[in-house]
Amino acid sequence: MRILSGMRPTGRFHLGNYLGAAKNWVELQKEHECFFFVADYHALTTEPDGHKAEDKVFDLTADLIAVGIDPTRSVLYLQSKVPEVAELTLLLSMVTPLSWVQRVPTFKQMAKQHPDNVNLGLFSYPILQGADILMVKGVGVPVGKDQLAHLELVREVTRKFNRTYAPVFPEPRALMTETNLIKGTDGKQRMSKTVGNIIGVTDDPEVIRKQVLSMVTDVKRPRRTDPGHPRTCNVCAYYKLFFDDWEHYWELCRKAQIGCYDKKKLLAERLIELFRPFREVRAELSPGQVSAILDEGSEKAREVASRTMVEVRQAVGLPSYLNAPGR
Ligand code: TRP
Repeated sequence: MRILSGMRPTGRFHLGNYLGAAKNWVELQKEHECFFFVADYHALTTEPDGHKAEDKVFDLTADLIAVGIDPTRSVLYLQSKVPEVAELTLLLSMVTPLSWVQRVPTFKQMAKQHPDNVNLGLFSYPILQGADILMVKGVGVPVGKDQLAHLELVREVTRKFNRTYAPVFPEPRALMTETNLIKGTDGKQRMSKTVGNIIGVTDDPEVIRKQVLSMVTDVKRPRRTDPGHPRTCNVCAYYKLFFDDWEHYWELCRKAQIGCYDKKKLLAERLIELFRPFREVRAELSPGQVSAILDEGSEKAREVASRTMVEVRQAVGLPSYLNAPGR
């Protein structure tokens, strides 16, 4: 089963990205052939100036390598360096009824978030996503819950393409990332740069300390001497994930033997220690190295993509390119 997944370079890599996606990718690459990419075309749907994404592309790639994506094992590439994906998006759009795309809930949400930039690219976002997957004939697509509607649409479009032309593509399916979705520092929403409730992973210790100390704690515990409610406290939820002896801390909290602030201090140090190896790898990576890794990965992805496109053009009934790659 070939695996493919991508991430948009829209902000600092955070704990939500790590637990919700990258950690799972690292596991998958041990057993499967994997394609992972930085979705810079997708980022243009909300920020049309690609220059603004340059640093973020570097950051995200370096972070992915730092947390364990191994570019000698997986193909790690930059989406826009494989422009075949744009042609495939166009061709998929010809067999995609408008009404199918109009149903996608994320479009409505995004349009609400960016009311002054509701563009066609944003509308066809899931078709570009489908092209990402189909271009390398990916079958397993690790994604979070928020992406399931896209995957469902991609599956429908895949069937429609195969039916209309020829059975070129295997039908991809979502591999649900099985992590307890932790909430951000506000204790309310999942982590997101826009909400401003993130905790970093490869950031400097001071940054992580500050973010963790800003966490909203047990609101039903106004005084340090009041007993805590670990079941509903966001900080305690983190303990369950990051401390083997979390039950001990929950008990201390219940008995008011540890305060919320002290719990946050301990948690910050725990995370900083846990992420130390990531930080160390990250610090060693130069922009030159990172861009060489992306170049090499993109070349590999492009080889696969151009072979797919030969098949696709043939199926659709378009002439082959002169000197078609892969021929
Ligand atoms: N839309 C995904 C997200 O925002 C990123 C993405 C783009 C993706 N193309 C993909 C994920 C293909 C899986 C497969 O998280």
